[in-house]
Amino acid sequence: MNKTLRGLLVAGVPAALGILFGVGVIMYGIQAGHKSEEASAKEDQKQKQTQASSTASGGGSEMKGFVSQNCATCHGQDLKGAFGPSLIKAGQSLSEEELVNILKNGKGSSMPKGLASGKEAEVAKYLKTLK
Ligand code: HEC
Repeated sequence: MNKTLRGLLVAGVPAALGILFGVGVIMYGIQAGHKSEEASAKEDQKQKQTQASSTASGGGSEMKGFVSQNCATCHGQDLKGAFGPSLIKAGQSLSEEELVNILKNGKGSSMPKGLASGKEAEVAKYLKTLK
């Protein structure tokens, strides 16, 4: 082997490896970028699906939030009754019409009317689902 060839090999092999390695890292980076884009696209889809299903089921979780914001102060955090009676029992023993009627007109002197602000039917339906 002559000296120049040896010199080329000694300098060239690591250089070639270095280039290969560099390209590999770049390719890997591009692929990883692709993957995370795909992943976030999937996340988007998932979110859309959950949104769609919560509207389809009559916004059960939305009603849960609404009721715990507007009713739980008097009827208790778990709606099992506090200052006002248990809404779980009320949902079981009263009809949807009776519930709507109470929400629209209030009851006695302490159950204020109009708290469901137009969502009486939805709230009544939700109360009927409580167990
Ligand atoms: C300011 C306190 C207060 C808030 C807020 C409140 N309630 Fe009441 N609620 C009462 C009281 C007190 C009674 C019992 C009234 C009576 O029987 O004289 C009652 C009674 C009821 C009843 C009848 C229960 C039964 O067994 O006869 C229903 C149904 C009801 N509330 C639903 C709701 C819903 C739904 C909300 C939220 C939109 C709500 N209430 C918010 C105080 C409250």
